[in-house]
Amino acid sequence: MTKLLVVATGNPGKLREMQAYLENSGWELTLKPEELEIEETGNTFTANACLKASQVAQVTGQWAIADDSGLQVDALDGAPGVYSARYGKTDAERIARLLRELGNEVNRQAQFVCVVAIARPNGAIVLQAEGVCRGEILHAPRGDGGFGYDPIFYVPEKLLTFAEMTRELKRSISHRGKAFAALIPQLKKISEN
Ligand code: IMP
Repeated sequence: MTKLLVVATGNPGKLREMQAYLENSGWELTLKPEELEIEETGNTFTANACLKASQVAQVTGQWAIADDSGLQVDALDGAPGVYSARYGKTDAERIARLLRELGNEVNRQAQFVCVVAIARPNGAIVLQAEGVCRGEILHAPRGDGGFGYDPIFYVPEKLLTFAEMTRELKRSISHRGKAFAALIPQLKKISEN
């Protein structure tokens, strides 16, 4: 039987993306109620994903899913991290700030991280998965696909930035793709119960 899963986001783009990942998982996805605002007060991706999933589940009385993600730059001690979305007002500003702070640093190593959490209707977290994608920060943007920090995130094994990849390639190697891939077998099991 198909079960309903409320997505802890008000963003229809994120709903579509999650729908693509969770196709054939046995779950039907729906957006959280618009009036329900949840602040990301956690210090870690895991804390934020869990608090969003848990609150949405409790308020709606349904199963809920939430993700939290961001970019961690080694030479900046993991910044911008959980502040990735709040690092500037626009993608261009966020990229400019990151490049400024990194300056001519030789160590350009970085990683994207994504944590996905699933809560049952009483708010208890039953599943969590994390995906990591390692790469390097370029000195200037390259490519015009994707979003966020994609144009400065270079994956040496593919000789491409995230912004230069097809959606399929990015999905197969990205932090989000890996986190969802880890989650699907477990989600299928729950939907069958
Ligand atoms: P949130 O997970 O919606 O809280 O947002 C995380 C932020 O991290 C986004 O606004 C982006 O700035 C950044 N981010 C997360 N994943 C990606 C990605 O795949 N490409 C580029 N930027 C990303």
